[in-house]
Amino acid sequence: MSGGIFILSGAGLSAESGLKTFRAEDGLWEEHRVEDVATPEAFARDPALVQRFYNERRAAVAAAQPNAAHEALAQLQAAYDAPVHLVTQNIDDLLERAGAAVVIHMHGDVTLALCADCGHRWRAPVEMAVGEQCPACDAAAARPDIVWFGEIPYHMDRIQAALEDSDLFVAIGTSGNVYPAAGFRQLAQQLGIKTLELNLDTSGAAFDEVRTGPASKVVPAWVAEVLAH
Ligand code: APR
Ligand code: ZN
Repeated sequence: MSGGIFILSGAGLSAESGLKTFRAEDGLWEEHRVEDVATPEAFARDPALVQRFYNERRAAVAAAQPNAAHEALAQLQAAYDAPVHLVTQNIDDLLERAGAAVVIHMHGDVTLALCADCGHRWRAPVEMAVGEQCPACDAAAARPDIVWFGEIPYHMDRIQAALEDSDLFVAIGTSGNVYPAAGFRQLAQQLGIKTLELNLDTSGAAFDEVRTGPASKVVPAWVAEVLAH
């Protein structure tokens, strides 16, 4: 282990930037059924509804600004004397816009379009239309570059290697409801890695240490502590 830090973030990291989380009472899954907007079957059945859902997400992300937590994580990755693996379930680009050099998006990235035919990726228009053409193969097969329920999360080999390369696992702003991300804490514990949760309220999972409070306060305080050592 090179003493790296593995950081798994969820929707709570971006909540104070104004982006909705999923499972709060005003969450995205209260307003929309997953099976209507976030599965391959939904996209096949009603591509206009799915494109509209992600066009709304993309516009919200474009209007959002990184908060102090994103800034602190970007600073940690730049300043820490060992690797800081920023693995996120979030589909926004706020960590990158805060200056983070390497972010692993295991559920995809709403700023990107993916060609379902040839696999080409490109910067998505804010409003992606049904049947948008792929600039590489001309197929009318553009979809949001999002990992939908029932699809395989991206970069799992990189994520496994990053975890094995670390001696601290930190979960920030995630309810731990969705696998495989929810399984990373147990994997860390099996590897003998210390686990820390930073969350508005604890998710209730068994971490070695839990610090509660809004990410924009708790994350910068923790980063300052880590960099002071
Ligand atoms: N600061 C810190 N944590 C917060 C804040 C905040 N300001 N606001 C909310 N949280 C925490 C909540 O306590 C909760 O634990 O963020 C978490 C949000 O949980 P979810 O809405 O379930 O989001 P997430 O864990 O990211 O969901 C995982 O589920 O639907 C899929 O693909 C989707 O990536 C998503 C995955
Ligand atoms: Zn293509």
